[in-house]
Amino acid sequence: MKQKKKGLKNSAVLLGVTGSVASYKAPDLVKALKQEGASVTVVMTDASSRFVTPLSLEIASGNRVYRGLFDEPVAAPHISLARDSDLMLVAPATANSIGKFASGVADDLLSTVYMAFRGKVVVAPAMNWRMYEHPTLQKNLEYLKSLGVEEVPPEEGRLACGEEGRGRMATIERIVDAASSALTEKSLAGRKLVVTAGPTREYMDAVRFMSNPSSGRMGYAIARRARRMGAEVTLVSGPSELSPPGGVAFKAVESAEEMREAVLESLKGAHALIMAAAVGDFRPAVKAGGKTEKSKVVSIKVERTPDILAEVGRRKRRPVIVGFAAEAGGNLERARKKLREKGADIMVYNDIAAEGSGFGTDTNKVVIMDKGGAEEYPLLSKDEVAGLVLERLASLWA
Ligand code: C5P
Repeated sequence: MKQKKKGLKNSAVLLGVTGSVASYKAPDLVKALKQEGASVTVVMTDASSRFVTPLSLEIASGNRVYRGLFDEPVAAPHISLARDSDLMLVAPATANSIGKFASGVADDLLSTVYMAFRGKVVVAPAMNWRMYEHPTLQKNLEYLKSLGVEEVPPEEGRLACGEEGRGRMATIERIVDAASSALTEKSLAGRKLVVTAGPTREYMDAVRFMSNPSSGRMGYAIARRARRMGAEVTLVSGPSELSPPGGVAFKAVESAEEMREAVLESLKGAHALIMAAAVGDFRPAVKAGGKTEKSKVVSIKVERTPDILAEVGRRKRRPVIVGFAAEAGGNLERARKKLREKGADIMVYNDIAAEGSGFGTDTNKVVIMDKGGAEEYPLLSKDEVAGLVLERLASLWA
């Protein structure tokens, strides 16, 4: 296995598609896995080809789709596929395939590959709720889990048969997350992290506020990645359009003061605080109730908001602190000063003036600095930046 244990990037995923109605979602799943940097090879069961064509999966994956155990007996694809893949993901997984995996029946290509595969296996069941609840299926799943197979449990909702119940295949986002997590080294296992994200809002009356264009993407990427690396994560977020990552404790806040309170409350027992939020530096000195008559406002007096990072940094017993210094263009010295003066252990200098970097983008250009020095990185996805920051953090504890 050429597993790098850093998520799906550069990994080889063997995707088993079995005969559930949900197989029509398989091409989208393939695309989502590829988007994360995986190469995907599909093995289909006969029944699944009634719901989705091999051609669609061939086009989506850009790879040959495998179907029959006896298509090329000399090439023995069941062995080469099992040997050359980092992860075996079966989505959708039917009661039939789960039953075969659990009992050792190997009568088609997919079940034979399962027997020959030695890496991590993730299954996403999809079936009618009666089938999912059946003690035989549950016993099979429990047995597979005892062997280390991971289940991405189905969701409740309206099923293809028209009934309501638990049996709908998990969302593509949850399946991709589980696949990525299965391929990530648990270098933050046992660590408790508090991560902040997004902008803050400072109201001057009931409807008007001061804020900034932070989207929350950097902090959400850190929270998601930290969870995949095995950490217990609390995400404290200002207003953001993003959905909180699964498996993360989530606290929604608006103002800097609310963020401060949520952070201080969450810090109990935490090993690290990662302040990726763009906390507003000022707030209106007075907050009026209702909506102020505009003719009555000539100017707005502002005051400083609490500096959360600096407050935690001054504590005697404090967690490891990672700050983000958003600076417009090349001002590394200011970031270095913040590292020193605010009591942070790691400061991520974030060039908000560079093309494709800073607020609202999917990418970031950063320099990660600590007391020992600084390392500059090219423009990377926020997910990759999250990985670098968390690896640096994990290395402090290694
Ligand atoms: O001083 P500056 O605002 O540039 O510092 C940035 C770092 O400090 C970020 O990590 C930010 O989340 C944090 N910060 C804070 N409280 C504030 C302002 C910034 O914790 N009021």
